[in-house]
Amino acid sequence: MTTKSLVCLILVTSSLFTLALGSQTHRGKWKLLKRSIGISAMHMQLLPNDKIIAFDWNSGPSNISLPGGKCVVASETTTNCYSHSVEFDPSSRSIRPLTITTDTWCSSGALLQNGILIQSGGFRLGDRVVRSLTPCANCDWVEKKNGLITSRWYASNQILPNGKIIVVGGLNQFNYEFIPKTSTSDQTLYQLPFLEETRYSPLIPNNLYPFLHLTPGGKLFIFANDRAILLDHVNNKVVKNYPVMPGGVSRNYPSTGSSVLLPLILSSNFNSHPEAAVFICGGTVPDSNQKVNAGVFITASKSCGRLVITANNPSWEMEEMPLNRLMGDMILLPTGDVLIINGAAKGSAGWYAGREPVLNPVLYRPNAPITAKTSRFEIMSPSKIPRLYHSTAHLLSDGRVLVGGSNPNSNYNFTALYPTELSVEVFYPPYFSPNVSRPLISKINPGTNLEYKQKFTMHFHIHQWHEELGKIYVTMVAPSFTSHSYSMNQRLLVLALDSEAQKVDFSNYVVDVHAPATATLAPPGYYQLFVVHEGVPSKGTWVHIK
Ligand SMILES: *[C@@H]1O[C@H](CO)[C@@H](O)[C@H](O)[C@H]1NC(C)=O
Ligand SMILES: *[C@@H]1O[C@H](CO)[C@@H](O)[C@H](O)[C@H]1NC(C)=O
Ligand SMILES: *[C@@H]1O[C@H](CO)[C@@H](O)[C@H](O)[C@H]1NC(C)=O
Repeated sequence: MTTKSLVCLILVTSSLFTLALGSQTHRGKWKLLKRSIGISAMHMQLLPNDKIIAFDWNSGPSNISLPGGKCVVASETTTNCYSHSVEFDPSSRSIRPLTITTDTWCSSGALLQNGILIQSGGFRLGDRVVRSLTPCANCDWVEKKNGLITSRWYASNQILPNGKIIVVGGLNQFNYEFIPKTSTSDQTLYQLPFLEETRYSPLIPNNLYPFLHLTPGGKLFIFANDRAILLDHVNNKVVKNYPVMPGGVSRNYPSTGSSVLLPLILSSNFNSHPEAAVFICGGTVPDSNQKVNAGVFITASKSCGRLVITANNPSWEMEEMPLNRLMGDMILLPTGDVLIINGAAKGSAGWYAGREPVLNPVLYRPNAPITAKTSRFEIMSPSKIPRLYHSTAHLLSDGRVLVGGSNPNSNYNFTALYPTELSVEVFYPPYFSPNVSRPLISKINPGTNLEYKQKFTMHFHIHQWHEELGKIYVTMVAPSFTSHSYSMNQRLLVLALDSEAQKVDFSNYVVDVHAPATATLAPPGYYQLFVVHEGVPSKGTWVHIK
């Protein structure tokens, strides 16, 4: 068989095997929101003004021009007249092009406490740039050339209790630093040999985009490949080594699984720390990308690992997803359930390397009992659009999940096996079902600017209150910066209630709620507040805590 016919055979079989497990029997719904936002949403962040900021990478033409028809210098010999970043309004579906002059490819980001989006690193001339964007009607990116001490490509960010952002790793960077640079200690590069030790081999640095989660005690859990540590980033000391996750599956780029910090359940006793657990799903063999180069597309893993990172002697609890998946996004829904969405069943992250798109999301209920007949997973109805490498997902304030991107090609290519996707669609989790009535937050007293330990009163409306089952809970969700199947800074707190909800009159209720006690539980900044009744969340209300 010639190479050419072999390639054709692969193309035919892979499209035949695209996984879509029928739409009748599964819950959840999809809707195409916009056929093109002009770019492929490789990185996404929701801002407190409910706009989505998306960007891809600064090479060649996109499908949208720079604002005002301007052109910028791209290198010594070229100019660029195309935009590679847009602001998208999910409610009006309008798009505003933004200006970035240097390359943001495979970079990281976080929202500062004042609502300004900080983006760090990228490729080539962009690899040490720190960019910022203020949420306002006419604001555009501001780029700071040497905002990072060293180059960061495939690094991860986490917002910290003191309002700074820690930037960890990147290709051949076994260190971390803090931004924005305001003090002399920010000018130091801190070494982290763990990032060198957890590579599969020097030639296969398969531990990129390490997973970072801030613990309730204010330390940083860092996961790379199949190992994890606890970093005291204040004293720059590794204070704990966690057990190796069993199974030999690689979870970070390019064997790309995903990770979330499961909901933190807060107590009104401010002296007790909640238990914290991480949940990591999917991924594949450590050398998946090398296998693809040799023409072999290995089946991705079904396995997930769950670890109580606050326990003295934690051990991994393994669970199996109903579908094999790598490059899946894990999104915390306002209910505290986890949605696993996007990705592929075979191959690797990287250009041209993924096969068999997994079109069905899977819902995971962290507290559901596991019995012989039931698991915590439920397969949801499928999308029609493959979302492979460079795709993203983000929770919107109204509880829908925005899905965009997918460009496994080295340029914009609309005729490739998996074309460059400029579209965005939304997934409606089952709580959007027409037969359920959603609660509605009507007022927060004294207001939406919260302080730590503050007690506030939430007024809400529920059309049909189920007296016996009528327990409600209140969740607070941090918006994430999502890229490469990992939602940085994603965090969900279940707030402590002062007492049960009280009826005011016909469908109006009121409940007293305790704001989180400390910045280690909830770093200062913007969050969305939801009230959940019978597993159905309200729309989110933005609050700010400091
Ligand atoms: C992007 O632009 C190209 C060239 O003008 C065009 O052929 C293509 O249809 C556009 N794609 C989308 C999704 O709008
Ligand atoms: C797009 O992909 C197809 C299929 O791989 C290839 O033949 C074509 O040359 C690509 N086009 C561009 C503009 O790169
Ligand atoms: C709503 O309808 C769906 C399917 O039509 C069903 O599975 C679900 O139990 C219903 N929910 C309620 C609260 O009646």
